[in-house]
Amino acid sequence: MSVKLNCKFTEGFVASHEIEYMKPFAKVAHNMLMSANGQGNDFIGWVNLPENYDKEEFARIKAAAEKINKTADILIVIGIGGSYLGARAVIEFVKSPLYNNLKKDTPDIYFAGNNISTTALTELLSICEGKDIAVNVISKSGTTTEPAIAFRVFKSLLVEKYGVEGARERIFVTTDKARGTLKKFSDEAGYETFVVPDDVGGRYSVLTAVGLLPIAAAGIDIDALMSGAEKAMVTYRSDDLDTNDALKYAVMRNILYRKGKSSEILVGYEPYLLMFNEWWKQLYGESSGKDGKGIFPNSVIFSTDLHSLGQYIQAGQRNLFETVINVKDSGASFEIPNDPANVDGLNFISGKDLDYVNKTAMLATLIAHNDGGVPNLMLEVEDRGAYSLGYLIYFFEFACAMSGYLLGVNPFDQPGVEAYKKNMFALLGKPGYEDQKSELEKRICDK
Ligand code: PA5
Repeated sequence: MSVKLNCKFTEGFVASHEIEYMKPFAKVAHNMLMSANGQGNDFIGWVNLPENYDKEEFARIKAAAEKINKTADILIVIGIGGSYLGARAVIEFVKSPLYNNLKKDTPDIYFAGNNISTTALTELLSICEGKDIAVNVISKSGTTTEPAIAFRVFKSLLVEKYGVEGARERIFVTTDKARGTLKKFSDEAGYETFVVPDDVGGRYSVLTAVGLLPIAAAGIDIDALMSGAEKAMVTYRSDDLDTNDALKYAVMRNILYRKGKSSEILVGYEPYLLMFNEWWKQLYGESSGKDGKGIFPNSVIFSTDLHSLGQYIQAGQRNLFETVINVKDSGASFEIPNDPANVDGLNFISGKDLDYVNKTAMLATLIAHNDGGVPNLMLEVEDRGAYSLGYLIYFFEFACAMSGYLLGVNPFDQPGVEAYKKNMFALLGKPGYEDQKSELEKRICDK
């Protein structure tokens, strides 16, 4: 099994009878998803996706990735939230957070349209100077402000640089199958399009063209990614807590939440997990933070953050639990050199592998945090390959749905995301928002 849940470091915080008592509720939650009779059941296309994906489109994704590879030095991936986090997480996990600086035969990949920062945009434009560029714009709605602005900019850049015909060969659009302005516009302009399935929400979409095209462009084996997810899908069809670790993780989170552990920290010991943490935060934050409920998802990279947030976790407010991702085979080895002068007093670890020290730091921290009153769940992940990551992605998606149903919320909507947009449109003067504009301006002046 590529991903295994280890609950050893919750002993003393969660008793075995508490897990036993949750079994009937877990079965109900599992059945709600598998029988498609729970809230948000029109957004559960991701459940069977690793088996039921569009094979023709999958082949087109590979061909487009090859075309990008042959014609571009830089691929600009435009999207926000669920339309970019998954791809970036996978590329950093499997390749590296320093992917663009690696020696490689695939294009550099930059992400745009995930903020409204002028500096970020202008810096990226200057990086693109003199380079051959391709663009993959990803937006299910096609109207999200951040990516729409970035697409305007890069579309013009490509037309200016390559002409209308040339730009057409370099722009790839991932959007809604039929509805939406971006689909209509792309068809008219003759851009190749890929589909965000109707029944898959943004944060569950990494294993659709949304994630797969940028991931394939980075040279990652998308067959292996899907196979790992498929294996997890088959495993989690069981509602038995002894074999379904995703269901058990959801149960453990629920038990801890009811004991006042309202914040969960996802912990990685590898910098390549940083963007994976970000993907996870969106998945869990948007899925469960509603109706005044939900565990607040945070993340850290240790040992880096042991020197910043470590103090709080060890001894701050006791409303925390941690979930540690332990990638068993780091895929690299490095022997710690000997220093004849032993200036730092560390010769007792000379000759040891650096990963051994990292794993020892993890064990030491687990025990220290347990002693400080912080329960720890641990996910043992085989390695950083695409297969294991596909498995892990599915694990978290499945567990997220289960967590939502156990909490009594709809894990597939995100009504709260609209609030800032409405205010922003009103303040920017979008037609139709006139009343809100004057009311908001009055509130701002009153402050
Ligand atoms: O998970 C979600 O649904 C959101 O994060 C969306 O992915 C995000 O808001 C981008 O939306 P769109 O793809 O429509 O541009």
